[in-house]
Amino acid sequence: ELNAKESLYIVSQFAADFFQEQLTQTQKGRAIGLSYFKERGFSEETIKKFQLGYSPDEWTALTDAAIEKGYQLDFLEKTGLTIVKEEKKFDRFKGRVMFPIQNISGRVLGFGGRILTSDKKAAKYLNSPESDIYHKSKVLYGIFHAKKSIVAKDTCYLVEGYTDVISLHQSGVENVVASSGTSLTIEQIRLIKRYTPNITILFDGDAAGLKASFRGIDMILEAGLNVKVVLFPDGEDPDSYARSHTQAEILSFLDSESKDFIKFKTDVLLKEAGKDPIKKAGLIKDIVESIALIPDPIIRSVYIQECSSMMGMEEEMLLTELNKSRKQKI
Ligand code: CTP
Ligand code: MN
Ligand code: MN
Ligand code: MN
Ligand code: MN
Repeated sequence: ELNAKESLYIVSQFAADFFQEQLTQTQKGRAIGLSYFKERGFSEETIKKFQLGYSPDEWTALTDAAIEKGYQLDFLEKTGLTIVKEEKKFDRFKGRVMFPIQNISGRVLGFGGRILTSDKKAAKYLNSPESDIYHKSKVLYGIFHAKKSIVAKDTCYLVEGYTDVISLHQSGVENVVASSGTSLTIEQIRLIKRYTPNITILFDGDAAGLKASFRGIDMILEAGLNVKVVLFPDGEDPDSYARSHTQAEILSFLDSESKDFIKFKTDVLLKEAGKDPIKKAGLIKDIVESIALIPDPIIRSVYIQECSSMMGMEEEMLLTELNKSRKQKI
């Protein structure tokens, strides 16, 4: 079992090296992949640091190279690098630029591959399937490069995508990881909690699912972390913002736009409710339910004070609701 896992790690690192070599050492890789990354503003140092690569637009480039080197097809298949279908085999990531996903100690577990064409039918990103070494619910993209800075800054920025992590790093903001498209899981929260109790979530300006994400954030409060949020300007994400601003501008933007999550949520819901009394009653319950999840009673009581004044409600009323909500939990 242990050896089988080790084989998956080894073949994954082989693939990362292969994709990297294709990107930097081949004419096609340079013309297609490297120029793509350069157009995105990634420096050679950044490309190296994140082991970015290129998977040739051929059916079995990686598979053939690996088998030639003596890697077993079985391990290529188990990592999802090779898809085997009716005796035929082909590379999963054919024709994509590659983002290796590393665990906290820097080992490659899997990959994200971005399409280069604007083919609307194909998914923009393809990711490795679950395997014995890759469990997407337990991984945070960038954690290996971010952990030191997370501890030093005592804060972790959480972004949506690979390129957000990379661009912020290149701009000198290194305490950043990505959930990579999926909603945050309790395992990912615990991973962050090993390094800091403070998390700031950076939302893309296209944030269609902003309100939908509120429930997921409750899970972070329940785990006892302090949550702030930053909403990027319309049409921007941390990557595009980092590209068009200096490090000082980015830091001052993050600092001035960070809003306490509970207060942010209260604001958003209050605006939505307007003067509708029923909606307002609903939002009070909703906010109190979030506050009730916070383990620390002092922090809960501070929020009750703050939110009652934001809502123009008696503190007593919120406290009664809070106690009801906490009794239900027990
Ligand atoms: N994602 C995915 N599959 C998709 C689309 C997105 O796995 N079909 C994940 C990727 O990890 C991606 C993240 O969700 O990085 C955020 O998606 P999005 O904001 O659409 O992509 P960006 O990271 O901004 O990518 P780019 O700038 O290259 O368009
Ligand atoms: Mn397992
Ligand atoms: Mn997005
Ligand atoms: Mn994005
Ligand atoms: Mn983007």
